[in-house]
Amino acid sequence: TPVPAFDLVIFGAGGDLALRKLFPALAQRSREGVLPDESRILCIVRKQEDVDGLPKQIAKRLKEEGLSPDHIHAFQQRLTIVLLDAVKPETYKALKKALGDDGRVRSFYLSTPPDLFIPICENLAAADILTPTSRVILEKPLGRDLASAREINDAVARILPEDRTYRIDHYLGKETVQNLLVLRFANTLFERSWTGRDIDHVQITVAETVGLESRAGYYDKAGQMRDMVQNHLMQLLTLFAIEPPNLLEAGAVRDEKIKVLKALRPIVGPDVERYTVRGQYGTGQIDGQRVRGYADELGHLSNTETFVALRCELDNWRWAGVPIYLRTGKRMAQRYSEIVVTFKPVPHSIFGGGSCDKLYANRLLIRLQPNDGVQLQLMMKVPGSGRLKIVPRQLDLRYSTAFDERTPDAYERLLTDVIRGDQTLFMHRDEVEQAWRWVDPIIAGWQDYSPHPHRYAAGSWGPSQAIGLIEREGRSWADPD
Ligand code: BG6
Repeated sequence: TPVPAFDLVIFGAGGDLALRKLFPALAQRSREGVLPDESRILCIVRKQEDVDGLPKQIAKRLKEEGLSPDHIHAFQQRLTIVLLDAVKPETYKALKKALGDDGRVRSFYLSTPPDLFIPICENLAAADILTPTSRVILEKPLGRDLASAREINDAVARILPEDRTYRIDHYLGKETVQNLLVLRFANTLFERSWTGRDIDHVQITVAETVGLESRAGYYDKAGQMRDMVQNHLMQLLTLFAIEPPNLLEAGAVRDEKIKVLKALRPIVGPDVERYTVRGQYGTGQIDGQRVRGYADELGHLSNTETFVALRCELDNWRWAGVPIYLRTGKRMAQRYSEIVVTFKPVPHSIFGGGSCDKLYANRLLIRLQPNDGVQLQLMMKVPGSGRLKIVPRQLDLRYSTAFDERTPDAYERLLTDVIRGDQTLFMHRDEVEQAWRWVDPIIAGWQDYSPHPHRYAAGSWGPSQAIGLIEREGRSWADPD
C-alpha cells in the first residue's frame, strides 16, 4: 500500500548508515511503488564537494544492491541535496527554502552522533521549519548514559511531543523480531508454556564477524555495551518476555515493554564481576583470513569492550528464577543472532536405561540472521524394530523455503512506519531511559571490579570467562553447528 506523499530530510546523509542502509531501503520501497512520485528526500551535507559527490555515491551503492539503472535514475529524481551545517542556525535558511510550502508531512531523520540531536531540533524550530505534523527520527545510541539520554529527551520534548518522536532501534524492524510476537501470541502451543514453570533458561546471542571498520571515533567511546546491549539485546529480551498486550498497537506494546525493563534485577557493585564478562578481541582468524586485534586496528591500547556476556533475571511472576544469558561481540567465529529457549526436562523418564544417553530438553531456536527461521528440538524414536532408541531431532522452518516473499530490510519497514505515523516498532523515552538505568551501574561496576576487558582471539566465541559464566550453572552456550 503506498504511503502518503512526504518530505524526508536526512541529516548525516553522507554517513555510513545512510549509505549502507537508509538509501537502499528507500530505493527498494520506491521501486515497489510504495513511495508516491511527488515524495522528496532531502539530503543534508556539510561540504560543498558532497553536493555533487553524494548522488554519485548513492547511485554506486544502489547498483551494488542490484537496482536497475532505470530504478536508480527514478530514485535520484527524488533527491535534493542541501548544504547545511547542523550547528550553524543561519545555514538552515537553505533547508527552509528547499522545503518550500508543499503542505506534506515532514520527517527529519537524525542519522548523526547523539550530541547533535539537541542543536538540530533547536535549529529546526528556530528556523520555523517544523510544522504541527513534523516528526523527528533519532538513531541509537540515544546518549551515553541515563543523564545524557534524559537531557536529549527533555530537550526534544520541548520542541516535539512524544507521539512525533521516533527513536529507532533497527532490530525491531527485522522480520524475525516481529515474528517473535506472532510466534508467541498467535500460537497456543508456545504461549501456554512461555513461563518459568516450563522454561529452564533463555539465551540471546548476537554475534558479528565485523571488527572496528571505519568507526573508531564512535565505537571506542561507546563499546559493545552501549552499541549493542543497551538497545538491540535489551529490546530482544523485552519482546521475548512481555505480557500479551491487548492489541498490537504502539501504546499497548510499549507499556508492556516498559514493565519488563523495570522488572530486570539490577546488577550492581560486586555482582558486576559475578554476572557479567567483558572482552576485547586480539588477533585471530576469520574465514581463513588473519585479522588484527582491536588495539592494533585502533592504533593504541584501549579498555573498550568489544564483547559482553551477562546473566540476568526478571523479578516478576512469569519469569522468577529463569536465568537469561545475553552475549554479543565483534569479530566472533560466525555472524549469527538467535534466541534459544531451553525448556525444562520431563519430570520422569519411562524409557529404561540404554534407549538414549539422556532425554534432551526441548529447545526452541529463533534464528534472527542469517537463515532466519524457527527450529524446535524434539526427542524422537529411531525407526526400527529392535531395541528402543531415542535421539534429539529438529523441526526446521526456514523463512527462505516457507515463503516466496522477499524479506525486506529492517529500515524499509521502519521508514515507512514513520511516514504512516505508526510508533509500535519505536522506543518510548521511558524504555530508553529504563534501559540506561539498568546498564549504567554495570558500566560503572567495570571501572571498579573489572577495569581491563578479558582478551579473546578474533574468530572465537569470546573469552573463556564467558563460557565459565554459564557453565558454572551446569548449562552451556548453544553455538551454531
Ligand atoms: C548497529 C551497531 O546498531 O548494529 C553496529 O551500531 C552493528 O555496531 C549493527 O554492527 C548490527 O546490525 P545487523 O543488522 O547487521 O545485525
